[in-house]
Amino acid sequence: MVADLVERFVTTAPRPALGLATGGTMEPVFAELVRRHREHGLSFARVRAYLLDEYLGLDREDPCAYRNAIRRLLARHVDLGAGAVHGPDTHAADLDAECDRYERELRAAPIGLQLLGIGSNGHIAFNEPGSPLDSTTRVVALRGQTRAENARFFPAAQAVPTRAITQGIATIGAANQLVMVACGEHKADSVARALEGPVTSEVPASAIQLHPNVTVVLDRSAAASRAR
Ligand code: PGA
Repeated sequence: MVADLVERFVTTAPRPALGLATGGTMEPVFAELVRRHREHGLSFARVRAYLLDEYLGLDREDPCAYRNAIRRLLARHVDLGAGAVHGPDTHAADLDAECDRYERELRAAPIGLQLLGIGSNGHIAFNEPGSPLDSTTRVVALRGQTRAENARFFPAAQAVPTRAITQGIATIGAANQLVMVACGEHKADSVARALEGPVTSEVPASAIQLHPNVTVVLDRSAAASRAR
């Protein structure tokens, strides 16, 4: 279902600007897009892709950097040029200025379809609970829970970074269409709070309720809770 939405977008938009999320949830999505490229010639040649967030403090070549994960899982297997993947420069001397630059780039793109995961604490991108609903691209500190959950993507000897650059909640909301995906019972409570609870900065993903064009794709386990 998610690949269908992406395929329709990249084949019909005049200049497709695709917002990419990373994380375990997106891996089968990317695998399906790669399969469609190989078997059916689905082309990404016209696509410009934009990262949702990126860790701070990793080497440029670190495989755990989201830019490199996107290259490994998607870009290198399809006809998406390396130069077509855009993200914040986490090695910029002035990170605040770099966040402002990336925010302007995103607004100018503008993003047509944005893929989103959701954290089990209700985060979207790296907007942790408490993030203002009007936030824009900025440097953030990662919560212990987020770092613990993402440790599975890092080698045992490597610490998960403590900071990241993330698109803000308002930045994400400026995309034309949002597609949120969640799988597994560990997501059920945050999904229920995001979709059925009040819109609040304590559940950053609840901001998608304010967006006019959202598709949420859940497996049964992620859909199993009700907001309390
Ligand atoms: P996951 O992460 O896809 O690895 O569960 C999603 C998120 O934290 O936004």
